[in-house]
Formats: sequence, C-alpha cells, structure tokens
Amino acid sequence: MTDIQDAPAALPQRMSLRAEELHRSLDDPLLSAMTFLNEVTHRFPDAISFAPGRPYEGLFDPAEITDYLAAYRDHLERDRDFDRDAVRTAFFQYGRTNGQIHDLVARTVANDEDIHVPAEAVVVTVGAQEGMLLVLRALFTGPDDVLLVSSPAYVGITGAASLLDIGFVGVPETEAGPDPRRVAETARRLKAEGKRPRALYIVPDFANPSGTSMPVDRRRELIEVAAAEGCYVIEDNPYGLFTTEDVLTPTLKSLDTAGVVIYIGSFAKSCFPGARVGYVLADQDVVTRDGHTEPLAESLAKIKSMTTVNTSALSQAAIGGMLVRSGCALRAANRDTIAFYRNNMKLMLAELSQHFPPGSGVRWNSPTGGFFVVVTVPFVADDAALERSAREFGVLWTPMSTFYLDGGGLDQLRLSCSYVEPERLREGVRRFAGFVAAHTARE
Ligand SMILES: Cc1ncc(COP(=O)(O)O)c(C=O)c1O
Repeated sequence: MTDIQDAPAALPQRMSLRAEELHRSLDDPLLSAMTFLNEVTHRFPDAISFAPGRPYEGLFDPAEITDYLAAYRDHLERDRDFDRDAVRTAFFQYGRTNGQIHDLVARTVANDEDIHVPAEAVVVTVGAQEGMLLVLRALFTGPDDVLLVSSPAYVGITGAASLLDIGFVGVPETEAGPDPRRVAETARRLKAEGKRPRALYIVPDFANPSGTSMPVDRRRELIEVAAAEGCYVIEDNPYGLFTTEDVLTPTLKSLDTAGVVIYIGSFAKSCFPGARVGYVLADQDVVTRDGHTEPLAESLAKIKSMTTVNTSALSQAAIGGMLVRSGCALRAANRDTIAFYRNNMKLMLAELSQHFPPGSGVRWNSPTGGFFVVVTVPFVADDAALERSAREFGVLWTPMSTFYLDGGGLDQLRLSCSYVEPERLREGVRRFAGFVAAHTARE
C-alpha cells in the first residue's frame, strides 16, 4: 500500500497565454506584414529581391573589420593619449551611456551635413531604431500626446510608437513630402480636440517607403510651422548621402534656429548595418528640477541606461575606426558606395521606362536618390500578388499598403534598388514586367 505522503503531488498545470493577454502592439497587422515578407523571402531564396532596404553586400569586406578596430585603437592612443589600460577599458568594459564616439559623430555631422552641435548633445544608439524609442519615450508624457507622421510611414516609427502606447496620426505625403499647411491644420485640429501634437516624424531625404524628398523652401516652412505650433520635429536621415546628382539639400537640423529639430542618424547605410550603430542629436536645453540646464541628450541617456545600457563598445570601435579613417567625412569616404546606388537607381528607372512604355497603365515616381521607387500598377498589389510574383516569376517587392496609416496604396508597391548588382537588377525588372503583364491580364 502506498503511503499517502509518497503519492506524487498534482503538478501545476503548464501556463499558457492568449494573444489578447499580451501587449496590444503585438496585434498590429504591421508586425505580421513584416513576418510575412521575411517568410516569403526565405521560401523563395532564388528570387531576385527588390523587397528589403538592405545595403548591397558586395560593398563589404570582412577582412577590413580588424583594420577599423585598429584605426580606432590608434586614434585613442595617438589623438587622445590613452595608455594601454585606458584602451583596454574602452574596448572591453561597460562604457559611457551616451557613447564613446560622440565627438567623432559630432565632427562627422559638421563636415557632412553642416550640423553643429556639441559632442555632449550626441547619443550613440543601437541603430536609429533605438534613437526613435528614446526620443519618443522622453517627449511623450501622457495619453493626450500625439505623434504626427507623414503617411505612408516608415514602419520603425509607427512600430516604436505602438510599443510605447503612443497614438499617432498621418499627414498625407505629397510628391514634395508632407505639406506644412496640412501639418499646421492637423496640429490645430488635435489641439481643438484637447490633444497635444507633440512631435512630427519625417524622413526629408529619399523617404522610406516613398523615395520622396522635401525641397528646401518646404523644409524652412515646416520648421516655422512646427515652432509656431510648439511641435518638435524628429528628422530621420539614413539615406541623405545617396543622391543621384551632386545636389545637396540642407537637413532640417542645419536650418533649425528654433531648436525644434531632433535629428536621428544611422551608420547602417554609410558604414554597415551589422554594427547596429546610430545616433541622436538632441541639443535642446532641459532645465532640471534643481535649476541647471543640460542638453536633452542627458535625458535620453537616462532612458538608454534602462534599455541597452550602452551601445556595444566593439561596434562603436568599428564605426569609430571608419570615421577616423574617413577624416570624419563620410560623404567623401562613401564615393564608391554613392556611385553604386546612384547607378542602381538610374538603372532601375531606365529599365522601368523600357519595360513599361506610356499607356501601359503602370506608373512610378523618380526619386533623386535613396533606395526606393514606388510603382503604381493596375491591380491590387497585396500579399497574394506578392506570393504569385515570387513563386511564378522569381521576383520580390513590398506591398505599399503596409505603410499607409489610413488605408491607401492598394495599387502600389515599393521596389528597392539597393540590394542587387546591376545585372540582377536588369533581370529582376524583366521578371517584374512579366509578372505585371500576367497579373494585369488575369485581373
Ligand atoms: C527611414 C529609416 N530610418 C531608420 C532605419 C533603420 O536604421 P538602423 O538600422 O540604424 O536602426 C531605416 C532602415 O531601413 C530607415 O529606412
């Protein structure tokens, strides 16, 4: 007979969760759309991909990584008088929350973008993406604070807002970016509803997903409007270097005398994305509770200390080495990379013209730089169409409807010209034209 004390106790039931119990951002169709896109890419590895905004990998040489690290070590020893122990700490130890290459970043934006901020206003982040989270967390204080975003919008910002329970509204993008008058109207409407339009997020140069850029007079107007409405501008500029001509439009940050622009930069395209290094320029004054003044960057650092603690010292060393080797001038150092993307963008536009003559019912925009072209087709460019394009024609693209905040873009798709070599690009557009012809005939 078994002693009752030896009988196995009833084991606790294995816990399970229902999706509704998790944070509501997980229900956002955006997250599923991205998963679908990744999944299609994996299922059709031989397809030519115009889907991701990834840099072309032929531009990278693994052998150079150690050179970058060595260049940074030399810089610490030579220019900053670090002894062996200090170098060891810089490479191996937890580091300053705001980053250790902040001075190099400040010099680089001064050279490349004519932006002049003190090094203390720079926060080195884990990609631009972390910069978005830090800025949103710091600025948005309650349920009445609303983020304005030009629509169609980059998913990283709407996704970040969604994670932080921040409400957002779209301002429709025109061929010259969002219209500042619409921004003002939207801000005033929100105020009339008792809300606070806290910030506008914008990619003024070769936006993702639309490829659109803002002319300089619109940039000035936008700053005026934002200052008048007391609304910050979050300028995100990962593609600014990659112009198709040598014409440079000043960044909003370089035009800003009102202190309304918080600038987010990324080294993902100008150096390499594997480093996951970006930065925020936050030189706005914050008067602390004890009455002294410090840059907003210090507040972002407090938040960062609770997210990523500091950006990887090794990644900063690699990017720091690239900056040192470039003389803190990435525009010049990226000459070959800029030429590659220029050529690809021009080729993409030329191939589209060749395959889709006037009257074909297919239209596209003509970005003057960046990675993305938006094509309007005579059918619904949804997941099912993408699946067919991948399976039967071996070419991938991104449905634009994913990026629209208030519906729209159903007959549009995004082609990225950044990831493939010119020969593959030509072949890809040929396949794409085959798909469009077949799908149009079927609809
Ligand atoms: C508009 C925009 N912002 C930011 C990023 C991401 O930057 P990072 O890789 O530095 O996080 C991208 C990358 O695709 C982008 O298109």
